[in-house]
Amino acid sequence: MTAALASPYRPGMGLDPPYLGDRAGQLRRFDGYLLDPGGAHNLVVTGLRGVGKTVLLNRYSAAAQTTGWEVIEREFSEPDSGPEAFAQVLISDLVGLARRLSVAQRLKAVASQLAAQVLDHLTTLSVSYGGIQVGLTPNGQLRSSVSRLEDDLREAFAALADLCVRSGRRGFVLRYDEFHVIQERGNSPTLSALLAATAAVQQRGIPVLLVLCGLPPLIENLGRSKSYSERMFRVEELGNLEPPEDRRSLTEPARLAGRAYDREVVERVMEDTAGYPFFIQLWGDSLWRGTAGNVVGVADYSALRPRILDALDRGFFDSRFARIGPKDRRILLAIAEHGERSPVAAIRSARGMANSQLQPTLSRLTRSGLVYRPERGVVAFTAPMFGSYLRRRA
Ligand SMILES: Nc1ncnc2c1ncn2[C@@H]1O[C@H](COP(=O)(O)OP(=O)(O)OP(=O)(O)O)[C@@H](O)[C@H]1O
Ligand SMILES: [Mg+2]
Repeated sequence: MTAALASPYRPGMGLDPPYLGDRAGQLRRFDGYLLDPGGAHNLVVTGLRGVGKTVLLNRYSAAAQTTGWEVIEREFSEPDSGPEAFAQVLISDLVGLARRLSVAQRLKAVASQLAAQVLDHLTTLSVSYGGIQVGLTPNGQLRSSVSRLEDDLREAFAALADLCVRSGRRGFVLRYDEFHVIQERGNSPTLSALLAATAAVQQRGIPVLLVLCGLPPLIENLGRSKSYSERMFRVEELGNLEPPEDRRSLTEPARLAGRAYDREVVERVMEDTAGYPFFIQLWGDSLWRGTAGNVVGVADYSALRPRILDALDRGFFDSRFARIGPKDRRILLAIAEHGERSPVAAIRSARGMANSQLQPTLSRLTRSGLVYRPERGVVAFTAPMFGSYLRRRA
């Protein structure tokens, strides 16, 4: 075994790790949903940055496709979050599925005419959502195109699920990542239209499965848009990997590639990473590249650790820090003075701020995924060791 062999680790975003740790329960539950197309199953996948949400979603997609489901997938971003953009994006995803189905061999044989009609209708819709069209309601009031979104989605879901079944597929999965950016705003329904349309077709046994994924504010956004959302979704809350799966996630990729770890090294890496999936990949990758022998020993670890921390500072933490404005940095430093989490009251008194001044900043930092609230009155960093990084910088 030589270090020239490519590293088996996958530090990055959404990169499938060679050993998927601690997700057997989630995958088993999803498999159960796939076997029950009319069962009205929906999932919310949530967790802090880097815990492996996207990786799990990709596994969900693969499982769905191999069991005969169509999958619509998208990663949302801020520009998609306004009501018009949201409506447009959803409809265009449905157009994409209709196109795919309309060329499916099996469907061509049985219902090509129907497929063409559905596609035509959706394409027309897509054009109408392209500009902010304003029409008249039956009682003469003005309404924008987004207020019809729920009806249009309901009809489109039903028609597409029907096409899926006619083409020998089980149904379709809507799989949306980074979905915490979508919030209900005033009178322009976004989330509520999607939830209401999904619930309506599912009540008729129509095989649609909704998987929404994002940072924890997603849960709050859903709750605010429809009170029944709690009953619509099973929530898969992902966190750091638990023993013994955390250790396996480090040792298995190396073992499969022919290299072992000294037990002491495994324990130290677990202390450093706290089971945070992204860090396990990063540590594994650096130790792999920096070790020459067949066993990653304590001497290798001790020699490489400063380099790993340095790479972490430069690659991971610096880029996060660079995006933060000076006012927000002061707040983050106040948290770091307490370690990796701090009482909100302590930040207020350290910075001499009123609660009403501090809360908007904390909300902004939460939305951008840098901090979260593990319990009432407390804020904590989402990434392990961010506090110690900030203290080192200061
Ligand atoms: N179950 C797992 N076992 C081992 N490694 C994992 C696991 N899940 C994810 N990883 C690794 O963790 C890193 C982050 O994964 P991923 O991008 O899916 O996280 P995420 O939660 O989607 O993050 P973000 O919120 O930033 O989008 C990747 O390097 C991936 O290979
Ligand atoms: Mg992700």
